[in-house]
Amino acid sequence: MTVSLPALSSLPVDADEPERARHYEAVLAYIDALLEGETDWIAAMATVACALHHAFDYYHWTGFYRAVSDDLLIVGPYQGTHGCLRIPFSRGVCGAAARTRQTQLVPDVHQFPDHIACSSTTQSEIVVPVLTPEGRLLAVLDVDSDEPAAFNATDQHYLEQLCAALGRRFAHTTQR
Ligand code: SME
Repeated sequence: MTVSLPALSSLPVDADEPERARHYEAVLAYIDALLEGETDWIAAMATVACALHHAFDYYHWTGFYRAVSDDLLIVGPYQGTHGCLRIPFSRGVCGAAARTRQTQLVPDVHQFPDHIACSSTTQSEIVVPVLTPEGRLLAVLDVDSDEPAAFNATDQHYLEQLCAALGRRFAHTTQR
């Protein structure tokens, strides 16, 4: 089903908190409308990565790493420059999110032990796990920024809300 929705504006990194929260509310509603009736997990990841990437000035790499086994992530749909293809749970910010099932909010990637630099321009990063209600890890949502300390509690709150909704919606997917 094709959905023609008006494009959202792109939020600058120095927007104040109420504006950032309002924008996330609009982006999540936009993604919900785009995904209405969609049952394909890969199509959903591609659509979410695209919608997020174009809605925030400070999102420079936006995408998913899929949990293809209990210790390996492989890149899924993404927007931005090329991303590393495979990340073991033992490595990087993505591996830490997969291993701990916890969001990793990193204000300065140069201070994060074993950060994997797919791009030399990345300054800050946030990685959120996508978990089903039963606790199965489907993927992690990874966002990089060339801005230092670009992500805060508001970004974390709404990205966790989005990933929880994806985990509920695709809890039964067999796609990995
Ligand atoms: N920086 C990530 C690797 C993926 S790139 O950001 C796309 C990490 O340390 O896990």
